[in-house]
Amino acid sequence: MTTRSVIRSVGSYLPSNIVTNEELSKTVDTTDEWIQERTGIKQRHVAADGETTSDLAIAAGRQALERAGIKGEDIDLFVVATATPDHTFPATAAKVQAAFGRRGVPSFDVQAVCSGFVYGLSVVDNFIRCGQVKSALFIGAETFSRILDWEDRSTCVLFGDGAGAVTLTAEEGEGTIADRGVLSTHLHSDGSQHDLLYVDGGASSTQTTGHVRMEGREVFRHAVVNLADTVKEALAANDITIDDVDWLVPHQANKRILDSTAKKLRIPNDKVIVTVDRHANTSAASIPLALAAGVDDGRIKPGHMVLMEAMGGGFTWGSALARM
Ligand code: UT7
Repeated sequence: MTTRSVIRSVGSYLPSNIVTNEELSKTVDTTDEWIQERTGIKQRHVAADGETTSDLAIAAGRQALERAGIKGEDIDLFVVATATPDHTFPATAAKVQAAFGRRGVPSFDVQAVCSGFVYGLSVVDNFIRCGQVKSALFIGAETFSRILDWEDRSTCVLFGDGAGAVTLTAEEGEGTIADRGVLSTHLHSDGSQHDLLYVDGGASSTQTTGHVRMEGREVFRHAVVNLADTVKEALAANDITIDDVDWLVPHQANKRILDSTAKKLRIPNDKVIVTVDRHANTSAASIPLALAAGVDDGRIKPGHMVLMEAMGGGFTWGSALARM
């Protein structure tokens, strides 16, 4: 017998304000045609003035808890993956915990930028499998609109705001890939690639929040290689092939990256959940938002094998295999 972290429910929240490519092209030197052709993005959601990452996280978390039929006060662990916290400290997860009226249990943020959901899932899974907690609310939430240089067309068109949440509980499994729950996680980083994707500010450097800076072409090149590699290691670790996977739920950075990765892996496009057209890149929120989209429209069903992968600033990258 093995303890598994079973994803009991998913929830999501997107700010109501939608900004189309057409609208962006009125304020920055770009076109709907360029953005769609190079990225697949048609629109993004942008948080309202005063709407914070914790607001988004709490809304997504509330939906996930309601769907699981679990009360906030019964959650043992609150984790938020974010690179855009409300404050330098305390953690956004502490605000989420307070909103659900739970005291005394651990709450903390995980910072791995766009890989935050895979990193955080790995952390939560380890807490559950080693018996330290029985339940967790784990949320990827971002307000990247706050750290964009809205005059830099090479980055500001790419990102959006949103939050996706999962509840996880400890269940006993057989220790085989037939079990429900997280089956494996694989994490990587290479800090020497810092300058290719970073934010040019921070508490101890500039005392400002800073803006996203990216060498897009270089990031793209690394992404396709790293993502395919980390998917292959997940398949090998579980002794399965890509045909055993029901759904690839990738981090949503660029439709061309999704297509290239799918092609490299020989997974048909209709087994890949795509939301980048509607959400743009929501960093740590993009995988749980895509997961929620697939569950909500009935494509991802209980028992399905889901493979998640992401790559982001750091560089960080990784994958997670789970049976829903
Ligand atoms: O989630 C974290 C990971 N992030 C990523 O995975 C992002 C990875 N990178 C990418 O998605 C792509 O590299 C981008 C979408 C960022 C850029 O696409 P690209 O095909 O690599 O374009 P490029 O950077 O090579 O730029 C091509 C041209 C340049 O003009 P010149 O130098 O050829 O005259 C840019 O100045 O496109 C220009 N350009 C734009 N034109 C219109 C850059 N941004 C824009 C824009 N509108 N928004």
